[in-house]
Amino acid sequence: MEYKTAVSFPKDFFWSAATAAYQYEGAYVEDGKTLSVVDKNINPHYADTSVASDHYHHFKEDIALMKELGMTAYRFSISWPRVLPNGRGKVNKKGIDFYKDLVSELRKNGIEPLATIYHFDLPASLQDAYGGWSSRQIIDDFAYYCKILFEHLGDQVKYWFTINEQSNMFLLPYLMEFDADTPLEKQKYEMNHIMTLAHAKAITLCREMIPDAKIGPAIGLSPNYPKTCHPEDIQAARNANDFRSYLFTDLYVHGIYRLNIWRYMKENGVAPTIEKGDMELLQSAKPDFLGINYYQSRVVKYAPDTMKNKEMKINANGKKGETEFEIIPGIYQGSTNPYLEKTDWDWEIDPIGLRTLLNELNDRYHLPIIITENGMGAVDELTADEKVHDDYRIDYLRKHLEQCRLAIGDGVQLFGYCPWSFMDLLSTTSGFRKRYGFVYVNRTDEDLKDLRRIKKDSFYWYQKVIETNGKQL
Ligand code: BG6
Repeated sequence: MEYKTAVSFPKDFFWSAATAAYQYEGAYVEDGKTLSVVDKNINPHYADTSVASDHYHHFKEDIALMKELGMTAYRFSISWPRVLPNGRGKVNKKGIDFYKDLVSELRKNGIEPLATIYHFDLPASLQDAYGGWSSRQIIDDFAYYCKILFEHLGDQVKYWFTINEQSNMFLLPYLMEFDADTPLEKQKYEMNHIMTLAHAKAITLCREMIPDAKIGPAIGLSPNYPKTCHPEDIQAARNANDFRSYLFTDLYVHGIYRLNIWRYMKENGVAPTIEKGDMELLQSAKPDFLGINYYQSRVVKYAPDTMKNKEMKINANGKKGETEFEIIPGIYQGSTNPYLEKTDWDWEIDPIGLRTLLNELNDRYHLPIIITENGMGAVDELTADEKVHDDYRIDYLRKHLEQCRLAIGDGVQLFGYCPWSFMDLLSTTSGFRKRYGFVYVNRTDEDLKDLRRIKKDSFYWYQKVIETNGKQL
C-alpha cells in the first residue's frame, strides 16, 4: 500500500553506515592485538584479515570522509582481542586507546558512535582455553569485556549492540569453531543459549553502568515466504520463521523459548542445558531496540520427514546458481523465488520484504528498530579515470530506503539506517572481490596497491539523500 500524503523520515533519523572490526581495521597482530577465531578461519581463497582496509592506520581520513558524506551516526564494532589480548585479564592500553580516539574523532565531527560489542571475532585464546561459546565460562568473560568497554567508552558511546547476527551463526558454522565429537545441532542450541545469557548480562551491566545509554542486539533476519499457497508450504514458512527468526527475537525480547521449538529440541535430544536463574536473567534484560541486518528474503517449502537433513551451502564465489539450500526434514526446505532478481552471490533482492519484516517485528514486539545492515555485494570496476559507476548499488539502496519510508508510514518506529558498508572491506565469504562500500579501497585480494580511498557514484547519491533527510532518494 502506498500513501497519498508524503511520509518523511524523522528529523533526528540516524543516517549512518556500518563496518566491522575484523573486516575493516587490519593491524591484526599490531599493538598487542592477538588473533580471533575469525582471523584464523576466514576463507583462505581470498585476502586474509591482516590488512583489510587498513582502517586502523587511516581512521582520521576515513572519518573525514564520513563527515563529507554527511553521516550523522556510524556503526562500527570493537575487537575483543584488541582490547583484551587474552580474552580476559589485563587490558591492552593501546587497544582501548584506539577506540577512545576513534569515538572522540567521531564526536568531534558530529557523528553519533553506534558500537557493536561482538561481531564474530572471539579471541582465539578463549577458544583454546575452554572451547569459546560452548562453555558457560564465557558468560563471565564476556561480562568482564563489556565492563571494560562501558568503563572506558561509556561517557561517549550511548548506543550499544550486544552481539551481531547470533541468528546467522546457526547457518554459517565457519563463523564459529565446533567440537568434532559432539553432534553439531546440539552444540548450536547450547551455544545459542549461552550467547543469549551473555547478551542479557551485557544489557544488565549497561543499565547499571551507563543508565542513559540504549542497548539491543543486531540480528540477521529474512522473512520466509511459502513457495505456494498449499497449506503445507504455509506451515513450512511459519516453521522457518520460528526457527530462523523468532527463536532468537522471542528469547531476546520476552526471555522465552517458543513451545514448538522447545519440543523439537527435546524430542531430538538437542535442547540446551537450562540452569537455575537462566530464564529469570533472560526475562529481566529486555532490549531498548532491535537492530536488524537485512539483505534478502527467503522462500521455503514443505520438507517431508523422509528427507535427509542437509546444511546450507553458501555461494562464496559470486557465480550465480551455486547456493545449495538447507533441508530440515519435517520442518522446511529452502527454495528459490522466481519473482526476484538475484545478486551474483544468489542473494535475492527484495526491498518489499524489508517492509514486511519491519511490520512483522513491530506488530510482535512494539520496539524501536534500527537497520544495522543492508547492502549489495558486487564486483565493482574502477575505470581508467578513477570512477566507480555503481548504479546497481544505488538502485538497491534507493528501493530499500523507499520501503523504510513506507514502513515508517505504517507505524514502525524506525530510527536509523546503516547501509553495509561505509567503505569496501573484506567480505566474510569472498574477500575484496565482493564489495559493498560507498568508498572504493584501492586493493585486491592479491595486491595491496596503495589502499587509496576513492568515492563511488553511490557516495554522491547517499550524500544527497542525507542532505535532504531522505526526501530525494
Ligand atoms: C552480515 C555480517 O552477515 O553480512 C557482515 O554481519 C557481512 O559481517 C555481511 O560482511 C555481508 O556478508 P558477506 O558474506 O557478503 O560479507
